[in-house]
Amino acid sequence: MITYRDASSLDVPVLVSLDKELFPYSPWSSGQYLEEISAPTRRFIAALDQAGSIIGYAGVFAPGGAEADILTVGVIPEHRGQGIGRQLMALITEWAISQGSIAMMLEVKTDNLTAISLYESLGYAKLNIRKNYFGNGLDALVMRKEIP
Ligand SMILES: CC(C)(COP(=O)(O)OP(=O)(O)OC[C@H]1O[C@@H](n2cnc3c(N)ncnc32)[C@H](O)[C@@H]1OP(=O)(O)O)[C@@H](O)C(=O)NCCC(=O)NCCS
Repeated sequence: MITYRDASSLDVPVLVSLDKELFPYSPWSSGQYLEEISAPTRRFIAALDQAGSIIGYAGVFAPGGAEADILTVGVIPEHRGQGIGRQLMALITEWAISQGSIAMMLEVKTDNLTAISLYESLGYAKLNIRKNYFGNGLDALVMRKEIP
């Protein structure tokens, strides 16, 4: 069974190593994670397997009364296609709504069709392209979902 809990600073070494695998084009450093994970306007959730190992995670920035920004969502390859990404998105979105967010925003690599189709199925609309957002030649598609 997969369980979900808040990620904490104790999880940072694992998140940093998973980031290198899942986001080789833009991994976060340990310093970045420590800063983000302890900020009150951010929430990070980890998905755990039966042994308690982190197999997925997601983070959101929700300042309240404004757009929330999905900071990251990733699931290790062995556990994809089981609804974990969708559940992580649901949990961070629920929290962003509870903070008074007016809309959800995210940036996704333009060639990441799997993630884009997940976001479209959740009601995100394509907004625009940010050139070189993830580095030279790596463009981002900006997507947005209104909170009714
Ligand atoms: C994107 C990602 C988080 C999805 O995680 P997941 O746990 O496999 O997703 P789910 O099982 O919840 O699937 C959710 C939806 O994603 C889409 N999806 C999943 N696998 C897919 C595939 N192989 N091809 C196309 N769409 C796919 C489908 O819309 C699916 O919905 P459905 O199962 O109802 O059809 C995962 O593929 C991942 O970690 N990718 C690498 C990191 C990444 O790119 N993160 C997003 C950065 S913005």
